[in-house]
Amino acid sequence: MKSADIRESFLRFFESKGCTRVPSSSLVPDDPSLLLTSAGMVQFKPVFLGLVDPGYTRATTCQKCARTTDIDIIGTTGRHHSFFEMLGNFSFGDYFKSEACAWAYEYSTQVLGLDPDRLWFSVYEDDDEAEAVWRDEVGVPAERIVRMGAKDNFWSAGPTGPCGPCSELYYDQGPEVGCGSPDCRPGCDCDRFLEYWNLVFMQFDRQEDGTLVPLPKKNIDTGMGLERVAAIMQGVRSNFETDILRGILARAERVSGVEYGRSEKTDTSLRILTDHARAVTFLIADGVLPSNEGRGYVLRRLLRRAVRHGRLLGVERPFLGDLVDEVVERMGDAYPEVVEHHDLVKRITLSEEERFGATLKQGLALLTEAIGHTKARGEAVLDGSFAFMLHDTYGFPFELTAEIAAESGLGVDHDAFERNMEEQRERARAAVQDESWAGISASFAEIGKEIGGVEFVGYAHDACDAVVAGIVAHGVRVDRIEAGMEAEVVLSTTPFYGEQGGQVGDTGVIEQPGGRFVVRDTRVPAPGVISHVGVVEQGALAVGDRVHAAIDVARRERIRRNHTATHILHWALRTVLGEHVRQSGSLVAPDRLRFDFTHFEAPGADALERIERLVNAKIMENHPVRNYETSLAAAREMGVTALFGEKYGDIVRVLEVGNFSKELCGGTHVARTSEIGFMKIVSEGSVGANLRRIEAVTSFDALEAVYREEAVLSELERMLKARIHELPTKVEALIGRVKEAEARARAASTRAIDAAAVPELRAQGGYRVRIGRVDGLDAQELRGLADELRASTDAVFLASVKDGSVLLVAAGTDAAVAAGFDAGALVREAARMVGGGGGGKPSFAQAGGKDPAAVDAALEAVRAALETG
Ligand code: ALA
Repeated sequence: MKSADIRESFLRFFESKGCTRVPSSSLVPDDPSLLLTSAGMVQFKPVFLGLVDPGYTRATTCQKCARTTDIDIIGTTGRHHSFFEMLGNFSFGDYFKSEACAWAYEYSTQVLGLDPDRLWFSVYEDDDEAEAVWRDEVGVPAERIVRMGAKDNFWSAGPTGPCGPCSELYYDQGPEVGCGSPDCRPGCDCDRFLEYWNLVFMQFDRQEDGTLVPLPKKNIDTGMGLERVAAIMQGVRSNFETDILRGILARAERVSGVEYGRSEKTDTSLRILTDHARAVTFLIADGVLPSNEGRGYVLRRLLRRAVRHGRLLGVERPFLGDLVDEVVERMGDAYPEVVEHHDLVKRITLSEEERFGATLKQGLALLTEAIGHTKARGEAVLDGSFAFMLHDTYGFPFELTAEIAAESGLGVDHDAFERNMEEQRERARAAVQDESWAGISASFAEIGKEIGGVEFVGYAHDACDAVVAGIVAHGVRVDRIEAGMEAEVVLSTTPFYGEQGGQVGDTGVIEQPGGRFVVRDTRVPAPGVISHVGVVEQGALAVGDRVHAAIDVARRERIRRNHTATHILHWALRTVLGEHVRQSGSLVAPDRLRFDFTHFEAPGADALERIERLVNAKIMENHPVRNYETSLAAAREMGVTALFGEKYGDIVRVLEVGNFSKELCGGTHVARTSEIGFMKIVSEGSVGANLRRIEAVTSFDALEAVYREEAVLSELERMLKARIHELPTKVEALIGRVKEAEARARAASTRAIDAAAVPELRAQGGYRVRIGRVDGLDAQELRGLADELRASTDAVFLASVKDGSVLLVAAGTDAAVAAGFDAGALVREAARMVGGGGGGKPSFAQAGGKDPAAVDAALEAVRAALETG
């Protein structure tokens, strides 16, 4: 059975049991708590939790999965993969243990035709029920059921969420494959029993504190590894020998010229190439781009590990594109997305390969040297700060350094590496914070605790009355501040927005009859605490004072416009450039907005114009902007875009623009899009690998930007004495004239050569001939001069010395040739004298020579020949 047949037979079988066939979901889960889709159940998590009703209670899928937690092992075995396909069947409060076990047995023995005597079963140590089902209902021999602990037989997708005891099916590959011990059974370290199907009886929701809360209903989640089953069905010992993977591996053999089976070392590299090529292709097709964090980092690690193993096999040129072609060829039928994004995948792998290839060599040389020194000193562990340097300067993922060190029997000091990383993060954090305010968040956390958090009323109000809850000056809590003092003030309630999510903090005034505090910035120094940074301008301010707090409304209005515009821009970018575009950072200030996003090339002027037009169309269509609170679960259900890697609480704010953009956002926004006026992109550029940045302005600032450009155009109009629409023609004409003038000037300079340098004489044949030496002209200039001179005489012979070599040109009119002038003969003879060669026709000839010292003598000889005939 080919892999495709197994896939189809599985889905058909479970359809016959009433399951709905559901397509594989993306490798990028719609779930900020997960890095990648690692199992078939991931897309059903909200269904298991009872948050979503999909409209069916039984499902079956073939799910693309990625797991990279043990990336180091991948390649060293025939069973581990970074990308694999998981066949699964699911019950949402419908069928349970009896059916799940019976059907797994039926599919294994009836459809796959596996020998029942070779099947073994494991159950969770205290799951009597599952054991009874296997033994009494399915009828398998009791001695082939083994009990195992939580490590093997309790399954969960992550530290929290749906989980439950499980039962696994094993295929006995025969005693000759195993360790030979009479006690060998499933769970043994040897290869004899191959685990191929996991049935999870999903009945708990694990909480943050570890407690298991029963789910609303009992569920089934199963996962069968397609590659493993293919290996069983195709009678091979390794997944890499099954139809799909063997084909890709064959391509890796061709690309590297290294045959599989030659040595364990090269086999490992070939398996790594094969495995990683699939993962890379599918990850990029699902919108992941290489970067230094999150999934992008996983992808980068895979790419770099593959490139390095390509080098180990002796491939120096980029090769991943070839492997990608093979993956697409073999898997495109089942997964059209890899066909659709074939080009993108190749472009990205190539750019990563080139980028990494350049530094790999240098880094490797350093690493080899360091390994040598470490061993020479008799130490077993490589310095962690050295690993950090390789990471920081040469882009070596830590795991790569560790893997290379391990090949020489060395470990790497991971703690020291992490310390260096943390120090660097610390430096980065410190760099963005105003030093004088750093490290004092403890005081704020304390104030926050005392008042139970600050109430933010700024979504609806620009000003409010409040009580001063705490004051921090130069890092310490004080009760009172007076005129001239700089401090941070925390109020019980505030309309001031603290810098967060890219939106800058508000400015404004906090006042009471006896004092006025000018707010220069607002920040969130501790969770739930909003702090006003500024100076007492007049009088004093004390804890407990009743004050009036008012933001700078005009400034906030500009911020609002830019913030809503940022959301529309995000939507427009995805619409024009593609769904792979993801926000990676933003700044929303009063005078501009900045938006960083993932994209692999510079968008052309056309694309930028389309993006800008689209944004402005949405602005003018005057869509309502809604901003409201809801639960995180409900927001996900609505398909809200959440930023990957951000931490969200249970209650989130959603920002909806019209019906086209829905994102989690706590910022402040306009009520309708037309308030933005219009948006103008002022710059676009690269800010890192696959990372682009757009800066734009809106409303009055956009108008100003247009005025500034208009001013330049007016200036040009004045200088060129032309109307704006005439400028291009005018400038084009101007450039033409400049070019012409330059050509004329060049010609004039050759003409200016003193006629005396090329005196005229009368030749024997009666015609006039000018002979002379004009140094410094190149061949073209010399020919030009010969042409010009010939117009006013009958024949010319010119010599020029330029950069140490000699050039000769002779030309004559038809009349001169008729009277006996032979340019070819003269040039040949003169060339011989100046150590060169060349010639031509009687009317025109040219040559070069190497001996400038002989030029005068050669000219003398020409003169003599012509005068005497
Ligand atoms: N979710 C289960 C697994 O991944 C089936 O093993």
